[in-house]
Amino acid sequence: MELNEQARAYVAQMTRAEKAALCTGADFWHLNGVARLGLKGITVADGPHGLRKQLEHHDSTRPSDSVPATCFPTASAAACTFDPELAFEMGRAIGEECRAEGVSVLLGPGVNLKRSPLCGRNFEYFSEDPYLAGRLAAAMILGLQSVGVGAALKHFAANSQETARQETDSVIDERALREIYLSAFEYAVQHGRPWCVMTAYNRLNGSYCGEHPALLELLRREWGYRGVVVSDWGGVHEIVPSLAAGMDLEMPGVRNGHREQVLGAVESGALPEAALDQAAEHVTALLLRAAEGQKKPYVCDLDAHHALALRIACAAAVLLKNEGGLLPGRAAQKTLVIGQLAREGRYQGSGSSRIHPCALDCAWDALARRIPDCAYEPGYDLRHPARNAELCARAAQAARGRDIVYLFAGLPEEAECEGFDRERFALPPEQVALIEAVCRANPDTVVLLQAGSPVELSWEALPRAILMLYLGGGAHGEAAARLLLGEQTPCGRLAETFPLTLADTPAAGHYPAGRVAQYRESLYTGYRFYDAAARPVRYPFGYGLSYTTFAYRDLTVETREGGELLARCRVKNTGARAGCEIAQLYVAPLEMTAFHAPAQLAAMAKVYLEPGEEKEVLFRLERRCFAFYDVRTRRFAVEGGRYALCVGASSRDFRLRQTVTVPGDAQPLDQRAALPHYYKVDGTFPKAEFETLLGRPVPRYRPPQKGEYTLNSTFGELARGVPGRVLFRVLRLFARRAAHGDAAQTERICRMLADTPLRQGCQSGIPEKLLRAFAALCNGDYRRALREAAGPAAQKARGDRDGNGGRCGT
Ligand code: BGC
Repeated sequence: MELNEQARAYVAQMTRAEKAALCTGADFWHLNGVARLGLKGITVADGPHGLRKQLEHHDSTRPSDSVPATCFPTASAAACTFDPELAFEMGRAIGEECRAEGVSVLLGPGVNLKRSPLCGRNFEYFSEDPYLAGRLAAAMILGLQSVGVGAALKHFAANSQETARQETDSVIDERALREIYLSAFEYAVQHGRPWCVMTAYNRLNGSYCGEHPALLELLRREWGYRGVVVSDWGGVHEIVPSLAAGMDLEMPGVRNGHREQVLGAVESGALPEAALDQAAEHVTALLLRAAEGQKKPYVCDLDAHHALALRIACAAAVLLKNEGGLLPGRAAQKTLVIGQLAREGRYQGSGSSRIHPCALDCAWDALARRIPDCAYEPGYDLRHPARNAELCARAAQAARGRDIVYLFAGLPEEAECEGFDRERFALPPEQVALIEAVCRANPDTVVLLQAGSPVELSWEALPRAILMLYLGGGAHGEAAARLLLGEQTPCGRLAETFPLTLADTPAAGHYPAGRVAQYRESLYTGYRFYDAAARPVRYPFGYGLSYTTFAYRDLTVETREGGELLARCRVKNTGARAGCEIAQLYVAPLEMTAFHAPAQLAAMAKVYLEPGEEKEVLFRLERRCFAFYDVRTRRFAVEGGRYALCVGASSRDFRLRQTVTVPGDAQPLDQRAALPHYYKVDGTFPKAEFETLLGRPVPRYRPPQKGEYTLNSTFGELARGVPGRVLFRVLRLFARRAAHGDAAQTERICRMLADTPLRQGCQSGIPEKLLRAFAALCNGDYRRALREAAGPAAQKARGDRDGNGGRCGT
């Protein structure tokens, strides 16, 4: 019997209470089963760059509170490999560690698209390009699931900022949504077939993603998804509309009275029993799949996994600059290593993805082991900034007379953390001053960057070489040493553009937003924008140097049955070292009437070549590579006409070009008159044109007034009245304690709290009835506050009288 049929047979035997229990978690990390029917609950755990299985009774994200696991490079690093095979292997290795810990579902990968380098969670996401992000996510999912562990693809959808992440409304036009923001999910869902899809906290065009009927219908109907739709943790705004819209499972879903609300709603007819059955069926199928999965043979070899993490870290690092062939360095050189980050590297981001690494190496150790004359200067003190001027002067002095200097710089830990967006594009000023001083003293300096996202490189002209390490995981230090000394040839390519300044970025002026995030740039994300606006960039998408060189020739194109195109070309290693080239094929429409990016990535091929070796590479182009989302017919369609196929080493380095004519199935869509700034892109996207594109006015945020507060009101909104203000003062004390007295960090935490809904109090163990009572108090309804505080009996009476089925937030 097919899994879903088996699940249906189980659900037919369940009581309503059992079904409702299946649709909410047992606790933070466990799903309920139905013991009476022999259905076992399962364990889920965070990732996605390794397993973060929380130790019992620990709710923090301190690394020591989770079981030791292999720490892989984060997604923004792994993406620079442009290598789905490595992503598959990473997924499989993480899956094996899940198996060893009895974990059935890993909460990842994250496939959200990047709008700005400032997103605090950029390190957890792959790329600014949906083709690349979708391919890598699908491969990682397949890897995980190959050993019987499910993936939870997240955060569905349009979750591209952390500011006000639980409440912000991503306002996006239909084309951008389909062609950019949903496209990576679409590929990953259809080709990776994840067991779970996790909805995002935010709203999308007005509705919370977890209770967005159109979004969930598209997932199920159009993409054929049959797995579980799970909420992000504490992200359910209202459980009944969520289940009605097609969400299956609320996590953690405890202590918030939602289970009772579901039962009440089914009883009163507000929620069709069929909707509950459907959700229970999906969760049951997951439990059955997980039980089967746990029987699959597997081997978990942590040493092999660390070696794999090292391979990925090596393949991910991007050589941005290498003037005069300064790199690779040599062990015989008189070397100076500068930067505390060389000893205490940044190798992962903060928040729910934070891993307790079972193996962690350090760049300084790896270099000192190899280089006989190797000295070290801290250059800056991450904990005691007062020492920075003195340390900078010492480092610059020590750099004089050295053959080569390796200077490690990077973003501070708090800059890249879930829940917060970055405040600055630049590196910390003391590090910029250090780079300037050291390069003046010795231009034979290599700057190594540790950051999960692009940083401003205003100082780029000064060092002779720059190597972007990203957040390279537990093996980052050994990887750095191997690349610096030429034991490995760098081959990573940027999965996101490095703009010159923040003002150059496509969402500048609109990012991060508060409650209403206007995606004015529409489909001009990343290189699509820089190319359309003809903006110079620091380093383009797809860019990366090597210690060798490659030549391209002979691009041919052949049309296959069904309209698929097969492009071929030859790539030759013309240098003296072995290395990998990542050949990229971009499609550039030549006659399209609908507005479009000048070119977009449509295929890639990674090829390893010995010196002098030449190989043929192959690119498969499905019809979708030429399609746009036609809002008139609500489907992807192709405008017939000529398209250039451009093959090269980055989005701005095309080496070969061929024009093809593609038959169309769409009418021309000339909106030039109505949307001039989307045709001639200069970086301004006026509101009036954006509204034309949206087909409606941009919504305005109106804060709730006294009398309108609910469990979904944020602490910031509640603080408009006296009780809320008092509560916020108390929260500020907690924030100060959490920030160890640091004023800037306290402010950051308070800003996050201001955007956190009251309902999240349940996750910290505060009973829902007290939260309801507090909302009533803020509304000035003291009798109701007392009634709510009195408990379930009073609640039931209220539900009966109000006739609202006891729905949260009413
Ligand atoms: C994050 C998810 C994560 C979940 C569980 C949420 O706050 O957004 O990515 O998987 O917590 O830790």
